[in-house]
Amino acid sequence: MESLIKLENVSKNFGMVQALQNIDLKISQGEIVGLVGDNGAGKSTLIKIIAGIFPPSSGNIYFAGKKLTSYNPHISRELGIQAVHQGVGLVDTMSVERNMVLGEEPVRAKVFLNMRKIKSITKEMLEEIDIKGNFKPWTLVGELSGGQKQAIKIGRSIYYKERLLLLDEPVTGLSVRETYNVLELIKSLKEKKVAVIFITHDVHQVYPIADRIVILERGRKILDIPKCDKEPEEIVNIIRNPGILECKSSENDNQR
Ligand SMILES: Nc1ncnc2c1ncn2[C@@H]1O[C@H](COP(=O)(O)OP(=O)(O)O)[C@@H](O)[C@H]1O
Ligand SMILES: [Mg+2]
Repeated sequence: MESLIKLENVSKNFGMVQALQNIDLKISQGEIVGLVGDNGAGKSTLIKIIAGIFPPSSGNIYFAGKKLTSYNPHISRELGIQAVHQGVGLVDTMSVERNMVLGEEPVRAKVFLNMRKIKSITKEMLEEIDIKGNFKPWTLVGELSGGQKQAIKIGRSIYYKERLLLLDEPVTGLSVRETYNVLELIKSLKEKKVAVIFITHDVHQVYPIADRIVILERGRKILDIPKCDKEPEEIVNIIRNPGILECKSSENDNQR
């Protein structure tokens, strides 16, 4: 299958700091990729490159097989790439329904908010994403739990037919039950053929729903495997001691 997004030999420097080095990465539609690695590994930089926020210092980006010759956040939005960051993206002092359409508000006569449209969008979206909990479309977002907020941000992307979601630590800080609900929601994106890059410092968070696990270490991709190839504990071990991969490959060399 053709990849939805493909990075080819992408590097990024900030002055003397090499944040990413020769990254190759392919993601197919409907695929959930767990992007893990220690602080400073380059995860956020990679996401920003995919979202068009930073241009790569070198290398190429392809979307649905087409090389992107100029790229910026506007083009990435047009392509259906949506970054969901923790703690941002919703306005606490506005209702659930207003947040659903934030930045894309339907208007009447060019200036008035089309509240009827907003209400029908919200109703459709809430039915589709089945967010757990007791709240109404007019409830203020500030009154919702962390998991419900996260569900709304992710749910919005379903409604707007996004094709690739970049989720930065989507369940960090959530309770066990809320984590479960958000993971179920992310899993349901798969049926809608949405691709997901799920960034986390804790591989256990993404392991249950991931198709693949990618480890970044000091700007390099050191592992990219179908998740079933390794137990989560082995992955944790590699993140802690990347050197063990070198031992493994020299073992293989000896066997040859
Ligand atoms: N805007 C920036 N300017 C300078 N250095 C940066 C910038 N963003 C990230 N870096 C550096 O790039 C490296 C990777 O950072 P980052 O992508 O944030 O890692 P992670 O998200 O995995 O913690 C770090 O050394 C960081 O200090
Ligand atoms: Mg980061």
